[in-house]
Amino acid sequence: MAHIIVTGGAGFIGSHTVVELQQAGETVTVLDNFCNSNPEVLGRIAEITGTKPALAEIDLCDREKVFAFFADAKADAVIHFAGLKAVGESCKIPLRYYSNNLTGTLNLLEAMAAAGCKKLVFSSSATVYGDRNPVPFTEGMPTAATNPYGWTKLMIEQMLMDTAAADPSWSLVALRYFNPIGAHPSGLIGESPNGIPNNLVPYIAKVAIGELDHLNVFGDDYDTPDGTCIRDYIHVVDLAKGHLCALRYADTLAGFKEVNLGTGHGSSVMEVLHAYEKACGRELPYVIAPRRDGDIPRMYAQTDRAKELLHWEAESDLLTMCRDSWNFTKKNV
Ligand code: WQD
Repeated sequence: MAHIIVTGGAGFIGSHTVVELQQAGETVTVLDNFCNSNPEVLGRIAEITGTKPALAEIDLCDREKVFAFFADAKADAVIHFAGLKAVGESCKIPLRYYSNNLTGTLNLLEAMAAAGCKKLVFSSSATVYGDRNPVPFTEGMPTAATNPYGWTKLMIEQMLMDTAAADPSWSLVALRYFNPIGAHPSGLIGESPNGIPNNLVPYIAKVAIGELDHLNVFGDDYDTPDGTCIRDYIHVVDLAKGHLCALRYADTLAGFKEVNLGTGHGSSVMEVLHAYEKACGRELPYVIAPRRDGDIPRMYAQTDRAKELLHWEAESDLLTMCRDSWNFTKKNV
């Protein structure tokens, strides 16, 4: 049984990963400052797994506390989710994003090194592929970012690459997520963003529950079959399981590796909307609105490396993702 530290473990993807880690028999400590999550989630995790994860309520930007924690923690590995992650917000307050995401990660890596813990799985994003690559996005393609949030992900990947190049005793895996959606089938944990959601599925969920009047479809004149943007939506539980596989892979890795976590195929905005209508059992109102700045027509993953190195592939289909999202939404109005 290993001791895994999950930074941001009270968040959407972090909490689902903690559930999978505990159900696999690992001991977990959640390191979180709850700036964008709710402490109640730890109790929900306990309801699902029977074990409430230990908590270290620490801000990764508090260098002294991070070092003190790792000096005592006897951590075997870290899964690093903690960070600010709203694309639009990052354009408004870039310095806050660079300071929080980069300083936090630097403190984490240096505290791990000081404590002799050199195994880390990092929550990266397909956003590092930028808007110039052909689909399917494949590891090794040129990377770029189109917003400060994306740049922080890319800069952290660079930190990990350079750390491993200087000292291959590090095992560092960057997981590039495509579009995580859905919720744990229990309906006890899921995605509950504060305020008006930026992302598609949490927004549709609020329309379905009656909190929002209709969905604004950001453009239907893209070069895609139905004119709306295509994305690679992946069930958050499949994503969480991918982290366990990445930890196992890190046990045998000397150095750095980036790996896509996606399903390998895309769904359009309208396909997602219609899947959600099936899941909630009623038509959902929408209007065609102007395009959103920064959106690209198609994004989906090449998934061979995840299959080959992590022995992992996504299992759930879009309807299951929408059903689990709706189940969580209904239970947590
Ligand atoms: C999906 C599609 C929108 C809302 C972002 C981040 C990415 C990652 C996942 C963190 C797009 C359309 C959306 C709405 C709409 N986050 N849409 N009406 O933009 O692919 O990715 O979230 O890692 O880094 O960039 O996801 O869900 O915002 O949008 O029509 O009200 O849905 O135009 O085509 P996106 P999204």
